Amino acid sequence: MSNWVRAHTNIALIKYWGKENETLIIPKNNSLSLTLDAFYTDTKVTFDKHLTKDELILDGKEQDDSALSKVQRVLEEVRKMADLHLYARVESINHVPTAAGLASSASGLAALAGAASHAAGLDLSDKDLSKLARIGSGSASRSIFGGFAEWVKGHDHDSSYAVPVDDAQWDIGMLFIIVNDAVKEVSSRDGMKRTVETSPFYDGWLKSLDTDLKEIKIAISERDVEKVGRIAERNALKMHATTLGADPPFTYWTAESMTAMNAVRELRKQGYTAYFTMDAGPNVKIICRQSQLSDIKNKLSSMFKEGQLIEAKPGPGLHLID
Ligand code: DP6
Repeated sequence: MSNWVRAHTNIALIKYWGKENETLIIPKNNSLSLTLDAFYTDTKVTFDKHLTKDELILDGKEQDDSALSKVQRVLEEVRKMADLHLYARVESINHVPTAAGLASSASGLAALAGAASHAAGLDLSDKDLSKLARIGSGSASRSIFGGFAEWVKGHDHDSSYAVPVDDAQWDIGMLFIIVNDAVKEVSSRDGMKRTVETSPFYDGWLKSLDTDLKEIKIAISERDVEKVGRIAERNALKMHATTLGADPPFTYWTAESMTAMNAVRELRKQGYTAYFTMDAGPNVKIICRQSQLSDIKNKLSSMFKEGQLIEAKPGPGLHLID
């Protein structure tokens, strides 16, 4: 049995930044994200007795062993759960606008968890799918769900998984500003590890999270985009501040990121609800009202090219496709 499974990417509003356990991917803190409609991964897994090793074919191209390693963590776990002793062919298609340069590990590993467990004949709960996606990549645990999801950190494999928070079927959206599509110099995995180990700002970051998380959940329940954006922006700035304190120091920001952030501040001065967040790369994502997405896109069109601006609305959770 094998089917295509689709998972959408998510962007964290309260960031996951640092691991308590690197092997199991247990995070230092809870995180909260919004799953989006614009970017997703379709994956099909086939367990086949004729295979002599696991294979990963991404966008039609066979991948090397390093790309295969995250995938194999998930495959191994599925084989263990299903008592299956066959290698797998993983076919995956990333639906990310050309040259967007956006991380696809959240949607990729979530789709893999769904497709591999389905192909192995397992009928997993969302909670178990989230745990399975998590061991591939932490942020993937949240892409099992549509709308807002919180990854509850837990303390071991069984207690660390995401839960749905709100379906986000209200006036919230995100505009992506793609400033650079180059492969990042410091991966999120390496960046968070270096920060935990060396940044004196890391403790301050951790201490501030309970308040951010509590306040954003209230703001979400009140459907208050302004408040959600304000909390997400300050949370992202704190996360990025920790990297400057690391040894050696690093930053994901480029001059273009700063230009984009200033453009968002300018939009606010003009009365728009617009706040930014950033991840382990230079692209900037604007949290805004869905009803103002095209208006804001128009406003920014003199500064950025058409292809650099991508509108996104809240997206669905993991599902089978034809
Ligand atoms: C900055 O989930 O890519 O995007 O668990 O090591 O695979 P691994 O890391 P990953 O880290 C994402 C970091 C982030 C913030 C977030 O998505 O919460």
